[in-house]
Amino acid sequence: MFPSQRPRRLRSTAAMRAMVSETTLRPDQLVLPMFVKEGAGEPVGIASMPGVVQHTRDSLRKAAVDAVHAGVGGLMLFGVPTTRDAVGSGGTDPDGILNVALRDLKAELGDATVLMADLCLDEFTDHGHCGVLDADGRVDNDATLRLYADMALAQAEAGAHLVGPSGMMDGQVGVIRSALDKAGHLDTGILAYTVKYASAFFGPFREAVESQLKGDRKTYQQDPGNVREALRELRLDLDEGADLVMVKPGLPYLDVLRAVADASDVPVAVYQVSGEYAMVEAAAANGWLDRRRTIMETLTSLRRAGADVVLTYWAVEAAGWLRERDGLPR
Ligand code: PBG
Repeated sequence: MFPSQRPRRLRSTAAMRAMVSETTLRPDQLVLPMFVKEGAGEPVGIASMPGVVQHTRDSLRKAAVDAVHAGVGGLMLFGVPTTRDAVGSGGTDPDGILNVALRDLKAELGDATVLMADLCLDEFTDHGHCGVLDADGRVDNDATLRLYADMALAQAEAGAHLVGPSGMMDGQVGVIRSALDKAGHLDTGILAYTVKYASAFFGPFREAVESQLKGDRKTYQQDPGNVREALRELRLDLDEGADLVMVKPGLPYLDVLRAVADASDVPVAVYQVSGEYAMVEAAAANGWLDRRRTIMETLTSLRRAGADVVLTYWAVEAAGWLRERDGLPR
């Protein structure tokens, strides 16, 4: 008996495969996360993220312009301050590095790209937590919300198109939305880090932002084994007015991404995080994986699982490969 059904027919030539390909990937669906460090000097490489740097204000401006020319859809900014305190003042201060850098990029790029900022205190606190601590050393949800509202205003005033609350405090989207609205920032959107796991895959990021964290974030980030609470977080963020929702990390949570994408009526982003980046770079550096093929396969998989937008440290390089493939001019 020979098969009468032969799926291989549709895989037989490149043209046939292209015609029936289900998943598309465009440069403008990719968002580049960028780090900017306070103070003078040169850009500093991040050892656990080869190819990624802590920018100076100057190098950030140039790299941002290059990224936009390469066709990426947006930029997500993180600040690395020189001093930190218990309440993360550098995040709410209009002259804090993140807000200054946003103003630089707004002046340079205007509306030519989508400017986003991580809205969280962990880069700015001396204890490294995403919020302020109460007398017992626990992260105080509601006291943190007040600071998030201030941080959102500072970022909106500095020119962010989207603010990205990533601290997993209950009610953060609602509080930020009402603060923005009250101040007249009706067009500043919220990209909510809706589903965020207490993940080991954020490891290299801690080096990237010089995090002071001891311990973990398990009282506010989600348990990796749970998916039900992801859907609850989604419902809450949609009710509170999120314009986009995000799942993070990416590759270990494709099932969660699919569940969120099926239930969301706003666009869904996914964050391919520092540890996902580091794993592939390390294996490729050893000659164990084909770097380009692996990167493109991960991005395709994130799109296939339901992501409309992918935050990835490979955004610029991948955008270049996509343009090469499609024969597009830069
Ligand atoms: C919080 C934040 C983190 C990341 C993005 N926003 C760290 C954390 O929550 O522990 C991680 C990004 C990455 O690993 O690439 N400011």
